[in-house]
Amino acid sequence: MHIASARFRCSSTRLDQCPSDGKLEFAFIGRSNVGKSSLINLLTDSPALAKVSSTPGKTKLINHFLINDRWYIVDLPGYGYARVSKAQRQGFSQLITDYVFRREAMYFLFVLIDVRLEPQKIDLDFINLLGQHGIPFGLVFTKCDKLSSNQVESHVARYKRTLRQSWEELPPIWYTSSEKRQGREAILDFIEKCLDQAAQTPQP
Ligand code: GTP
Ligand code: MG
Repeated sequence: MHIASARFRCSSTRLDQCPSDGKLEFAFIGRSNVGKSSLINLLTDSPALAKVSSTPGKTKLINHFLINDRWYIVDLPGYGYARVSKAQRQGFSQLITDYVFRREAMYFLFVLIDVRLEPQKIDLDFINLLGQHGIPFGLVFTKCDKLSSNQVESHVARYKRTLRQSWEELPPIWYTSSEKRQGREAILDFIEKCLDQAAQTPQP
């Protein structure tokens, strides 16, 4: 898909502040510092659209970016931020759960996973919650440039083995590197298919 325009639309601290124009939303979530904002900048080809920081916990609000005047990319706050209390770190903020479980405009959720790490409890807990609520989601492995391609394959295989312990069917998976610009086309093509599909489905 060609990105003709990408602009910041708004930041929200509550669900009722999010846009109400009915345009479909594709949201990005994951642990703090996993590379959500960097991936959004890669997808939109705009190096400074979403704020990237080496300090975890940078994105604290729900940020909407309007793409091609037609759909939204949504940058969600990270979870598992190390510099908050343990109780806060292990749970998911109200803002995150409100958005993920109640936002009708959200068509698909991309869950970002740092490919270097072994499966983390907080990500698995989150993925299982998504399953329980029937939320459509996929996994995006980030920072693939930090490992050799063999290591990437073995880490993703380990992740799939872990997921198969509780899931019969695996979600769609993408490999990305914002550094090497890897994964951009595959994700944008997927979004384009979703938009086409939604356009063909009559609204209730
Ligand atoms: P929060 O908003 O704080 O939750 O973080 P985030 O998930 O938006 O991560 P962000 O995009 O700000 O990136 C965090 C750090 O990881 C930055 O220093 C990025 O430069 C780095 N980073 C992100 N993606 C990649 C990648 O694909 N490869 C490499 N090598 N570094 C990356
Ligand atoms: Mg961010």
